[in-house]
Amino acid sequence: NYYAILMAGGVGSRFWPVSTLAFPKQFHDMLGTGETLLQRTFKRLEGLIPQENIFVLTNSLYNSLVLEQLPNITERQILLEPAMRNTAPCILYAAFKIQKENPDAVMVVAPSDHWIEDEVAFTEDIQRSFDEATSKDVLMTLGVKPTFPNTGYGYIQYEKGNSDGVQKVQQFTEKPNYQTAKSFLAEGNYLWNAGIFIWSVSSVLRAFHNFQPKLYQLFEKGLPFYNTESESAFIQDNYALADNISVDYAILESSPNIYVLPASFDWNDLGTWGSLYEKLPKDSSRNAIVNAQVICYKAEGNMIRTAKGKVVVIDGLNDYIVVDKEEVLLICPKSKEQDIKMMLAEAKKQF
Ligand code: GDD
Ligand code: MG
Repeated sequence: NYYAILMAGGVGSRFWPVSTLAFPKQFHDMLGTGETLLQRTFKRLEGLIPQENIFVLTNSLYNSLVLEQLPNITERQILLEPAMRNTAPCILYAAFKIQKENPDAVMVVAPSDHWIEDEVAFTEDIQRSFDEATSKDVLMTLGVKPTFPNTGYGYIQYEKGNSDGVQKVQQFTEKPNYQTAKSFLAEGNYLWNAGIFIWSVSSVLRAFHNFQPKLYQLFEKGLPFYNTESESAFIQDNYALADNISVDYAILESSPNIYVLPASFDWNDLGTWGSLYEKLPKDSSRNAIVNAQVICYKAEGNMIRTAKGKVVVIDGLNDYIVVDKEEVLLICPKSKEQDIKMMLAEAKKQF
């Protein structure tokens, strides 16, 4: 009864110029390992879930990229979204479809763009969560110990004083402001939301029914069509009517039956060039280099990426991002990585 849905419809704009609307980061080999982030995510789940029960959710724009990168999956396993509406609508759509195929299904919802080092620990945590979600009406999250007041994550407050293992969640807060995040860290009983969820289709559908009735009704109308030839026509006509909302705001902030398993694996949301830099191997001057052949003089702590084999000579540059991609060359201090979204908007005006 195990299923997985891989969310691969985001744009990853802070990884510009490598990640673009036409070719987002999950379809790139960001780590320089020979595999794209999507391929790595798929592989990670294959050991635990029958291959034919792994679905990929993405925008229609990326259909051919998914087929190219995962040649063994069938069209049944790719759910295409005709509009970008964030994660709640696509999860709800997938839950209805899977429920029709198997009402007892328990599924893991996995982002396609994370770095996870210890695959054995990952598999054990998912299995443990599957066990919980199979026997109880719970929404399982995986929590990561926070190290700084990151405002780009969800925060999970759990009940103090329980022993190790699965904890009852008191409150889920999506992307708090800096002050709030700081106070959460000071209190101690908070974890970052890793963005990986495990629940039965019946539990997640109940949560949407209770907390997003409008969204629920929109996709419920499709029940007669799911898994038939009329499905894509139904989706074409209705998907864009869905609210643009993430699953975190849609159900996690309101549901009373959320639990968290503190993750036993090392986790990183590959959200920015800086977070990628952290995870890549470095040379003796702490430069992280993907694809390029770099000759460095006084250059330390840089994140450098080019086309394969390009020779780059750097002298006197520290803690910068240097990314060369066909018609665009980005040179920007690592400390300004959050501004790349904005730079991209500016640069677009030039094309
Ligand atoms: N199919 C599909 N459709 N996938 C989408 C869409 C969409 O419209 N929008 C985003 N995704 C995918 C992204 O590609 C990514 O793999 C995943 O869903 C999460 O989306 P992000 O946009 O990266 O979310 P976030 O990083 O801002 O926040 C989420 O993840 C954090 C951890 O990485 C939240 O769940 C936070 O609470 C969490 O801490
Ligand atoms: Mg993310």
